[in-house]
Amino acid sequence: MKNKVVLITGAASGLGLATATRLAVAGADLSLVDVNEAGLAQAAEQLRSHGVRVLTRCCDLSVADNCQQSIAATLAEFGRLDGLCNVAAVMLPSRTTEMQAGAFEKTLAVNLAAPFYLIQAALPHLIESAGAIVNVASAVGITAQAYNAAYCATKAGLIQMTKSLAMEYMHDKVRINAVAPGGMMTPLARNMMNVTDPDPTLLGRASPLRGLVEMDEVADMVAFLASDQAQGYHGACIVIDKGMCAG
Ligand SMILES: NC(=O)c1ccc[n+]([C@@H]2O[C@H](COP(=O)([O-])OP(=O)(O)OC[C@H]3O[C@@H](n4cnc5c(N)ncnc54)[C@H](O)[C@@H]3O)[C@@H](O)[C@H]2O)c1
Repeated sequence: MKNKVVLITGAASGLGLATATRLAVAGADLSLVDVNEAGLAQAAEQLRSHGVRVLTRCCDLSVADNCQQSIAATLAEFGRLDGLCNVAAVMLPSRTTEMQAGAFEKTLAVNLAAPFYLIQAALPHLIESAGAIVNVASAVGITAQAYNAAYCATKAGLIQMTKSLAMEYMHDKVRINAVAPGGMMTPLARNMMNVTDPDPTLLGRASPLRGLVEMDEVADMVAFLASDQAQGYHGACIVIDKGMCAG
């Protein structure tokens, strides 16, 4: 990934940071975007120790203009863009009738609208560089999960958006793929515990019977799909879920 530039959203924590680390080890220069300023600064310091250039941008990606500005700032700094990894997301589970005002809209804005606006701004540059887009969806975008309708809908939407864009850009030199991980131990996953008095018989269907997925294994796949090695992948949704969606 030497001389390549990859923008990663949600890079301050969890899978975004793990992906940034993989790409830094492979030599890519990084543009990191997250709403968590302290986490972003810490991540950048850590990643620069691999000898790569790191640009950080602290902003709320639920605002479309911030998505467009993030792409523009990356191009202004590095002069090129080779990869876009849409990793940032929120998950605000609750009983549907108890959902807080604005939670549905926020989930849609961060998890679905932001990847769209980032992709829209990035596409001309990724076509020029024969680059790649990797969207992080979820196994619960395939297998439904109780108390999580908004999140599941955005992840299912992201999978279909990936495929639709892959069709539209079939004849261009850009690859567009998604990954759908099962449960990983990150701050986002811990939000599932916030549901009051959940019915365990409803949660059973989307529970990780073989245990959680290793975040580093998913990060390896995201980094691979963002690299030139993944030439055979376009419009794919790679499920890494220890069998969660199997039945
Ligand atoms: N953890 C799991 O079990 C799991 C399972 C399947 C898919 N995923 C997906 O993996 C991805 C990474 O999540 P994670 O588990 O590492 O969680 P995480 O909470 O550790 O990371 C999410 C990051 O997104 C950032 N973010 C949230 N809202 C933002 C906003 N408005 N603007 C900019 N940045 C924002 C957060 O600050 C955080 O750094 C997400 O797309 C998530 O849906 C997670």
